[in-house]
Amino acid sequence: MLQNDKPKFFGRRQGRRIRKAKTTLLDAFLPVVKLDTEKSFDRLFPDKYEKTYLEIGFGNGEHLAGQSLKNQDAAFIGAEVFKNGVANLLSIITGIKEGSDLPETISLTDNRVDNIRVFDDDMRILFKYIPDNSIDKVFVLFPDPWPKKRHADRRFINPDNLKEIHRILKKDGILRIATDHKVYKSWALRKTIESGIFEWTAKCSNDWRREPSDWVQTKYQRKAIREGRKPVFLDFRKI
Ligand SMILES: C[S@@+](CC[C@H](N)C(=O)[O-])C[C@H]1O[C@@H](n2cnc3c(N)ncnc32)[C@H](O)[C@@H]1O
Repeated sequence: MLQNDKPKFFGRRQGRRIRKAKTTLLDAFLPVVKLDTEKSFDRLFPDKYEKTYLEIGFGNGEHLAGQSLKNQDAAFIGAEVFKNGVANLLSIITGIKEGSDLPETISLTDNRVDNIRVFDDDMRILFKYIPDNSIDKVFVLFPDPWPKKRHADRRFINPDNLKEIHRILKKDGILRIATDHKVYKSWALRKTIESGIFEWTAKCSNDWRREPSDWVQTKYQRKAIREGRKPVFLDFRKI
């Protein structure tokens, strides 16, 4: 079992009121897909899944939901602290929207039941649960930039978290970081390269300027584009 010695979290855990359908989803459906840390990691997903992907801070869940639909041969773990975001992901993966009637039984769309697990808390707690060399790809997309210098130690991409991500990735596993924030772009690049445990896979500028081929747009990305900022997509391979 995980020791719940919670690290200090500086973001928001809950936002504005969560509407009725989403509250119902949190009550009735989150337990179905909730990552059960009492279970051993090996038994989290059926054996048929050869790949496991992890998205940290999935926000509203568009990317996680999109990836899990595109890659039905892979298992997906999503971690998100923000309750409204978790509720939104549940709405996407069940197809239940505000105002729609609730069906008698709630299930994943496309008859999927078992390729997605949600950890509705701080990823730093979950790291302890995940064994070495067990994840194929880790996504950290548009992490909170904490742009002020005095808040730099709150940035998710930092030496401690990079060590943990490196540990849980399989050989040649990929860490993908996307950001639209100037300060975070150079911070993430510098911290990851300086760590000495990841190599940047980009060979030319198009490799980090263009969306990767398996990309799914997120809310933060669309906002960044609307506001004239250019996101970058940084893929690093575990050394
Ligand atoms: C700026 S949002 C981006 C959300 C999403 N990735 C996207 O691109 O739309 C960053 C998200 O990371 C979540 N987050 C930050 N630190 C986290 C942590 N330690 N564990 C889990 N989620 C975290 C926040 O709650 C927030 O929803």
